[in-house]
Amino acid sequence: MTRPFEPPSVEEVTNLLRAVIDPELGSDVVDLGMASCRSVSADGFVVIDVKLTIGGCPLRAQIKKDIETRVATHPGVRGVKIEWGEMTSDERSATMAKARWNARERAPETEVAATTRVIAVSSGKGGVGKSSVTVNLAAAIAAQGYTVGVLDADIWGFSVPRMLGIDQRLEAERDEESGRPKILPNTRTVGKGLLKVVSTGFLVDDEGTALMWRGLMLTKALEQFLRDVSWGEMDYLLIDMPPGTGDVQMGLARLLPRTDMVIVTTPAVSAQKVAIRAADMARRSFLRIAGVIENMSTFVCEHGSQYPLFGVGGGQALADEIGAPLLGQIPIEPTVAAGGDAGEPVSLAGSGPAADAFRAIADQIVRETVPPVQMAGCSARQEVGETPVTISPRG
Ligand SMILES: Nc1ncnc2c1ncn2[C@@H]1O[C@H](COP(=O)(O)OP(=O)(O)OP(=O)(O)O)[C@@H](O)[C@H]1O
Ligand SMILES: [Mg+2]
Repeated sequence: MTRPFEPPSVEEVTNLLRAVIDPELGSDVVDLGMASCRSVSADGFVVIDVKLTIGGCPLRAQIKKDIETRVATHPGVRGVKIEWGEMTSDERSATMAKARWNARERAPETEVAATTRVIAVSSGKGGVGKSSVTVNLAAAIAAQGYTVGVLDADIWGFSVPRMLGIDQRLEAERDEESGRPKILPNTRTVGKGLLKVVSTGFLVDDEGTALMWRGLMLTKALEQFLRDVSWGEMDYLLIDMPPGTGDVQMGLARLLPRTDMVIVTTPAVSAQKVAIRAADMARRSFLRIAGVIENMSTFVCEHGSQYPLFGVGGGQALADEIGAPLLGQIPIEPTVAAGGDAGEPVSLAGSGPAADAFRAIADQIVRETVPPVQMAGCSARQEVGETPVTISPRG
């Protein structure tokens, strides 16, 4: 069953463009006046105007790729055409002034730098493996040498601390600029990479105590974690979303509109209706859906026999329905649960189909689906006599 074709509005495309960050100027290309959506045709062809600060800007290829990855994945987009232009010297001065102003004056909405890619792991219903997927992908991406934040947004039902084998209390320090206390995330080194982890599990003694927090508004908690944690530099921030996400997702869309959603589902085709609701919710708040991950897929025993315990085809069906790519299938395997219990994500040192599947999805994310923001400097800007802008880590 496929839905009727519906191209995005100009507003939707503009929102997707806001996730494209000029790495050197540290702001998004819409805000900087570099990109705008010119038109969307009824049959889904999008024309985007991009004005580079200087014609031969070395960031051109990256900006192009970023725009295409963001915009073309909307199911209502059949093609993206970029009309390139070059800024006049007045426009260039305005852009540089805006970037400088942003860097100095604008109170950042969150402590998450503009250059950090944000991926929220969500699902329609509980128990499908959001937390397992979050920690395994975070670990596998960190193993490639990246700094990866993990925000456990499952305030009452946190499981990230156990799954990553971290249990220290969080410490705070006073922020020199604002004088306000900032929470320091717990860290764990993974090869050349680093995990930075925050969870309510680091604030309370046990999951029972966490239940007493039921009165606490979920969105407030998320907001605090995004604003009051000293996240520092990160290539990625992965967010483990709570089940049944409505409010939290809306809060996230407001605070970090550039967030990419990954939807986890099981292979049972009948379970897709619930997952579709999660996807719809994301779309309504203009969050891009980067892809679908099918978890608890066919178990293959050591003799090679296949056991599709939870059915077959659900991930692909969901991906087709919502027009997002299927990023991979993770078989059901005792090593996943055991790794979670032991605090050693199977994607790190584990072997077998599940470990391989996690690593392959991490690769695909880094390579293609949500590539890290590269800090290639545009030296041409300095040649034209513009003062380079220093990006504050709070972007
Ligand atoms: N591929 C898998 N193979 C085997 N066990 C798995 C797999 N994925 C997850 N599990 C196990 O299933 C249980 C539920 O997984 P997990 O906690 O990651 O789901 P969740 O969606 O985060 O749940 P909740 O909605 O409660 O937060 C855990 O015990 C986990 O170890
Ligand atoms: Mg969970």
